[in-house]
Amino acid sequence: MRTPPLLHGTVSTAGPGAVGGAVLAAGLLLAAYGVRAGLRTAAGRAFFLAGVVAAGVSAAAALRAEPPNPSVPQNPVPPTAASMEFGRRLYQVHCAACHGQHGSGDGPAAAALAARPPDLRLHVPMHADGQLFMWVSEGIPGTLMPGFWERLTEEERWHVVNYLRLLALSGR
Ligand code: HEC
Repeated sequence: MRTPPLLHGTVSTAGPGAVGGAVLAAGLLLAAYGVRAGLRTAAGRAFFLAGVVAAGVSAAAALRAEPPNPSVPQNPVPPTAASMEFGRRLYQVHCAACHGQHGSGDGPAAAALAARPPDLRLHVPMHADGQLFMWVSEGIPGTLMPGFWERLTEEERWHVVNYLRLLALSGR
């Protein structure tokens, strides 16, 4: 049985904005250093120009970047075949009873639920990975959708999210 490679590190919510900010700060520092070193020396001018270019590039990137949404985490697990296969097995064990083998909401337990689970093949494409991850982690308050933060590790929940993308592609 193959297991996907373990991922180290935590879910990072630092988007391109943080990187851009760091480049911008570094650029401004370089430029300031260049001014201090004296704009008439070649080295000073080089530092000043490099700093201005770095600051300009990052400012342009920041303008184009989407505003980062710190409440929705980014998916740190690449959607490889191994990840989706691992997610598929977890889905069969933890989700299929309600959501059904193919996500259409017709699992054996669904009949007993007051509200039938939505068809995941239709609903998954409407949401970002981070949103799906939060529902799988915390559940959906006021509904029968349970949270899996105790039963599945953070990494396992991302594998399930990767599998949900494949499930949604399976059509109807
Ligand atoms: C006890 C039954 C049950 C189990 C087990 C369950 N779910 Fe759910 N799930 C539901 C119900 C009911 C809803 C609809 C909640 C609502 O009314 O908004 C739901 C909603 C969802 C949604 C939101 C769909 C949308 O766009 O509104 C996702 C995603 C989801 N479930 C994924 C999972 C995954 C992945 C698992 C397994 C790790 C799982 N569920 C296990 C019952 C279940």
